[in-house]
Amino acid sequence: MIRIAAVGDVHVDEDVVGRFRPALEELPDCADVLLLAGDLTRHGTESEARCVAQEFGNLGVPVITVLGNHDHQCDQVPQVVNVLEDVGITVLEGTGTVVECAGGRLGVAGVKGFGGGFAGRCASDFGEPEMKSFVRTTNESSEALAKALRALECDLLVALTHYSPVPDTLAGEPLEIYPFLGCYQLGQAIDSAPTALALHGHAHHGTERGTTPGGVRVRNVAHPVIKQAYSIFHLGDHLVG
Ligand SMILES: [Fe+2]
Repeated sequence: MIRIAAVGDVHVDEDVVGRFRPALEELPDCADVLLLAGDLTRHGTESEARCVAQEFGNLGVPVITVLGNHDHQCDQVPQVVNVLEDVGITVLEGTGTVVECAGGRLGVAGVKGFGGGFAGRCASDFGEPEMKSFVRTTNESSEALAKALRALECDLLVALTHYSPVPDTLAGEPLEIYPFLGCYQLGQAIDSAPTALALHGHAHHGTERGTTPGGVRVRNVAHPVIKQAYSIFHLGDHLVG
């Protein structure tokens, strides 16, 4: 069995530092790894990234993250990534990593992802250059996730995104904004590999549980949804959590 702790949308700045840390200090007793589903900061500044590093660095378990849209806001992504990597946090973007756990090798492939919408209600690669560029971003991001998932050699495979791969976990959000919260292409990517669990954030008013068309369990771990420092998933023959 592999124990995964996960949370997204922690939106750390100076005011938030210290709020998660007491619960995080207990992680080595209850989890093999911590996965962060993006939107670590409020505006993606280097100084906010330092606050994230202070809160989520040096925890005693590996920490793996993707960035979210907020982490891109101030165009300081390279600086943000450097600050996080300096404290040992692994930042995934169209890439994957394998963690050796007592219960086996956990493979995590991650990408921020993008919007676009879901089957029957989605943007299409047609018309103005701006719309084509939008959908191209969606497609490229999803293809990168598919490639990263299929490249990992591991016992259990997890997909980590910020945007949602399914509409199920958006229930509670206004229907009008679904296309800005996720896209079906991420779900297709997850279904193209033997993925055991897909974790995402971004939908603060969404729902915790969903399933891809291919039957992969999806969990929205946005902090406002799970209402705790992190959720724990026990991955083995059966998913618990
Ligand atoms: Fe977000």
